[in-house]
Amino acid sequence: MPVNVPLRDYLLTRRSVGLAFLREPGPSDEELATMLTIATRVPDHGKITPWRLVIFAGESRVKAGEALADLVRRRNPDASEADLEVERSRFLPAPLTVGVISRPQDHPKVPRLEQVLSAGNVAFNLSHAAFAMGYAASWVTRWYAFDAEAAGILGAKDGEQFVGFVHIGTAAAVMEDRPRPALEDVVTTWSSPLQG
Ligand SMILES: Cc1cc2nc3c(=O)[nH]c(=O)nc-3n(C[C@H](O)[C@H](O)[C@H](O)COP(=O)(O)O)c2cc1C
Repeated sequence: MPVNVPLRDYLLTRRSVGLAFLREPGPSDEELATMLTIATRVPDHGKITPWRLVIFAGESRVKAGEALADLVRRRNPDASEADLEVERSRFLPAPLTVGVISRPQDHPKVPRLEQVLSAGNVAFNLSHAAFAMGYAASWVTRWYAFDAEAAGILGAKDGEQFVGFVHIGTAAAVMEDRPRPALEDVVTTWSSPLQG
């Protein structure tokens, strides 16, 4: 079997680069279009496109962070300036963030789980796409993915849920790898039904 060595080696060694280490330059519009094309080329049972993407770029990153800080301040008037600054920086310093929204629908043949998994594939494919184009990325959720009001501010409509935010930029550091699971701990070979 002919081996695609660069692809294999990328998959064997890839790892995320955290938001704090993602800097300018970010992708051009053309590069971003390629990344989004790769990201949306994922398994999708029933071809129902149960996801969509929201781009945070330029000044929108600052505005989105300010909106989160406003929400936190409204809920907790005693929030410290340091806490508010954390919220203001949620989309910084990475030059680009793409929010991946799951929008599952009732379907006679496609369970919601499959639709959510398809959205997860979009997020991870987008990360792969960023690395393929010479950039780096990390996929995170954070509280505002699960808080309905915050998610709404960031673009999620009723019935929708962010499966994550993929931050993209130029890597400012080389990440050390983290421990990976030993295959023997996570892989078994099925031979017969488990006894109840
Ligand atoms: C759906 C999902 C959500 C995540 N959300 C967060 C998060 O909110 N905060 C965080 O520090 N890491 C989060 N992570 C983990 C980061 O992606 C982390 O950087 C990752 O474990 C790095 O893995 P890698 O080195 O294999 O790329 C999340 C991972 C996934 C799959």
